[in-house]
Amino acid sequence: MQVFYNGRFMPAEQVSIDMEDRGYQFADGIYEVVRVYNNRLFHLKPHLERLGRSAAGVELELPWPQEELADVMAQLVKANRPGDGIVYLQITRGVAPRNHPFPARAEPAITMYTKEFPRPTRNVEQGVACITVDDDRWLRCNIKSISLLPNVLAKQKAARAGVYEAIFVRDGRITEGSSSNIFCVYGDTVQTHPANNLILNGITRQALLRLIKQEGFRLVEEPFSVPGLLAADEAIVSSTTSEVTPIVQVDGHAIGEGRPGRVTRALQAAFEAEIRRETGA
Ligand code: PDD
Repeated sequence: MQVFYNGRFMPAEQVSIDMEDRGYQFADGIYEVVRVYNNRLFHLKPHLERLGRSAAGVELELPWPQEELADVMAQLVKANRPGDGIVYLQITRGVAPRNHPFPARAEPAITMYTKEFPRPTRNVEQGVACITVDDDRWLRCNIKSISLLPNVLAKQKAARAGVYEAIFVRDGRITEGSSSNIFCVYGDTVQTHPANNLILNGITRQALLRLIKQEGFRLVEEPFSVPGLLAADEAIVSSTTSEVTPIVQVDGHAIGEGRPGRVTRALQAAFEAEIRRETGA
């Protein structure tokens, strides 16, 4: 498999990461996960735009224009042909002797690879269970930073509980999932946390906001509480890899009738149409 590492395409086995890469030592970096369907990149532009915002958010100057990153990504997909998969792209502040302030001379270090990742068909059909956990992350969750330890710990709680996702709760309000955004549905109204510093503004979330309006539903971008979620008719977890997955249970309580609902099904169909339009999958 070909990967892209510091400006060169090379076999994955030949990559070795320096011990003093600031990503490795300080989690001083940002990343993106872009979906590939049918060997075609999906929603690429908003992912690259968000990468630009993440970089600016951590004062990381990207030496590669977005078009160049898009071109490299397309070449990787062409070389590896993952079918349905992802491209993982990570940029760190580079390699320098360990010291907290930004290094004077380090070049940002870039890593990009593809991976097969099948469609989450079963979850999308049947729905998933979730738990709620305390949101103990920093206050700049809008940056797609590689510092993911609180997210990892939350996801491990979900894994231990035998459920799909851990839903973060801050000050009694649901922010997002450990690697996803969360929506709830009341009648024809779909509600989700506003895109501020407390959540990552998911690309799938942004697509759903469009599709909610397109399908004639009402959109409310306001936080909701745990009792609010438990009382919802339907709930959804969204991400690049989860797509539009129904949540049918939270903390052991059934959501609505405990199976995927009408609004979720309509949004799934609209999302599927968007995938087909953009990638032919
Ligand atoms: N995670 N919120 C968080 C904290 C996330 O990590 C993600 C994505 C999302 C959804 O964003 P998007 O729709 O752009 O994928 C929301 C990626 C997939 C990951 O870390 O694997």
